Amino acid sequence: MPFALVYLVLAHKVTILPAGITIEYDPATMPYSEHGLQGSLLDICLNHNVHLEHACGGSCACTTCHVVVREGDRHLSEASDDEMDRVDQAAGVTLHSRLGCQAVVNGDVVVEIPNWNRNYVSEGGGSMNLGDAIPPPKK
Ligand code: FES
Repeated sequence: MPFALVYLVLAHKVTILPAGITIEYDPATMPYSEHGLQGSLLDICLNHNVHLEHACGGSCACTTCHVVVREGDRHLSEASDDEMDRVDQAAGVTLHSRLGCQAVVNGDVVVEIPNWNRNYVSEGGGSMNLGDAIPPPKK
């Protein structure tokens, strides 16, 4: 009996607020951007020319890639202890905060870039040059 080969393309959608940019991509074919974990929110943004700050280059050593997950928490990898320790230091941290460089996407998600990062970008900030502009860790 002949069989049919079923080929499914499992595209994911990542929506970035407040800009309302939706990225639809195939995780099986997306190249690695060399920043953050492969398949992370940062990796996806860089592959699609969407600016997400990443002062440490995606190595879980700053909080500039902080995002707040609005929908689809279950479609992100579980946060590691290192990520949780780091994100706790982010300005405006919430129960749904993640680091864009560490959260690997495995389904549709909606995330919001917090005010602090948005304001920095709109004022002409750039990656790898935050210096003293990085907020101090919470005590
Ligand atoms: S880019 Fe620095 S922690 Fe994500």
